[in-house]
Amino acid sequence: MLDVAKIRRDFPILSKLVYGKPLVYLDNAATSQKPSSVIQALVDYYEGYNANVHRGVHALSMESTQRYEEAREKVVRFIGAPDSENLIFVRNTTEGINLVASTWAAANIGPGDEILLTEMEHHSNLVPWQRLAKDKDARLRFIPVTDEGTLDLSNLDALLNHRTKLVSMTHMSNVLGTINPVKDIAQKAHAVGALILIDAAQSVPHMPVNVTDLGCDFLAFSSHKMLGPTGIGGLYVSSPVLEQMEPFLSGGEMVQEVTFDSATWNDLPMRFEAGTPNIAGTIGLGAAVDYLESLGMDQVREHETQLTGYALDALKELSEDFNFYGPADLSIRGGIISFYSPDVHPHDLGTLLDQEGIAIRAGHHCAMPLTRDKLGVAATARASFYIYNTEEEVDLLVSTLKKALRYFSKTPTGTTRSG
Ligand code: ALA
Repeated sequence: MLDVAKIRRDFPILSKLVYGKPLVYLDNAATSQKPSSVIQALVDYYEGYNANVHRGVHALSMESTQRYEEAREKVVRFIGAPDSENLIFVRNTTEGINLVASTWAAANIGPGDEILLTEMEHHSNLVPWQRLAKDKDARLRFIPVTDEGTLDLSNLDALLNHRTKLVSMTHMSNVLGTINPVKDIAQKAHAVGALILIDAAQSVPHMPVNVTDLGCDFLAFSSHKMLGPTGIGGLYVSSPVLEQMEPFLSGGEMVQEVTFDSATWNDLPMRFEAGTPNIAGTIGLGAAVDYLESLGMDQVREHETQLTGYALDALKELSEDFNFYGPADLSIRGGIISFYSPDVHPHDLGTLLDQEGIAIRAGHHCAMPLTRDKLGVAATARASFYIYNTEEEVDLLVSTLKKALRYFSKTPTGTTRSG
């Protein structure tokens, strides 16, 4: 098991008081906190060897290039990619998905073709495909979500057919916590000649993810949800697909030879990394990978599974007051718990919890169709866990939710109004 007390000492922000109360940070699906080693990696870069990469002949530039490419190697190893050319640095998951939509998909998807998504996608894995489908006269189809919060795969053979060019789906839902069987779906996609993109924004930070084992064609993730800085993320692309892809943004870095009339492209992956990259952020992401690897991703997953189980048990006493969403089976669930009470608006709940130092997210979580059309509510409250969260914090969440119900004049089930 993780030594959570030791881990917590590595995160300066966790000793912060909010309104005089210890911070209980349960908004990790939105962004994670950062350990000192990641913060220090940014300071070291700016204080010690700030220079542009892949350009200079001077000592600082050589050092920054070396550290930048070392960070790429770390991330490549972390996600099980075969080679450094398979990892393109992007700003975040959203940019990774948009890169695929603007390059491979724009070149390969045409009228009548189908893109298969699920009903539990984040807007970042929905809106780019809506735009592309409109431009190309293609059709979006959706794997439905069951009442338990899992994918209904009973009709997959019809949904995934010879017209499907791409399956693009989340590995772990940011609302339901559901972990989807992406490896099986990748095999089925390939069997009909389709490619598969995995939105791994919520999975790469929280569980072992190996792109080679999953057999995916594209996989996108963000650094800021996995202890790293904001503004940097990764897009894995498998080699055969990468070789067919035209560049995304154009300019410096991505070219080899340029004349007044034309240009030839740089080697992979630089061909997809136009302009000065987020050097500090990339090196910080490398430090985040070091930190996660020092814990072991199996241990990270085990800690969160255990904590989620503990939380779901503890929250049972509020099951008549709140709807809790997502599967009960912890083997297919990450550390995300969304909930809703008709008696307390999620934003009021968020504000009340905040007064007690507890940070959660309230809203549609950038998954409006899922929240509104499937769960049937405008918003939910969401608690999401990471390596530094404890059972004591879960207890505090539960007792504060009870307090919130009392505050909003609703007696929590199993308690008296005076209790
Ligand atoms: N995608 C992030 C979330 O779910 C921002 O909160």
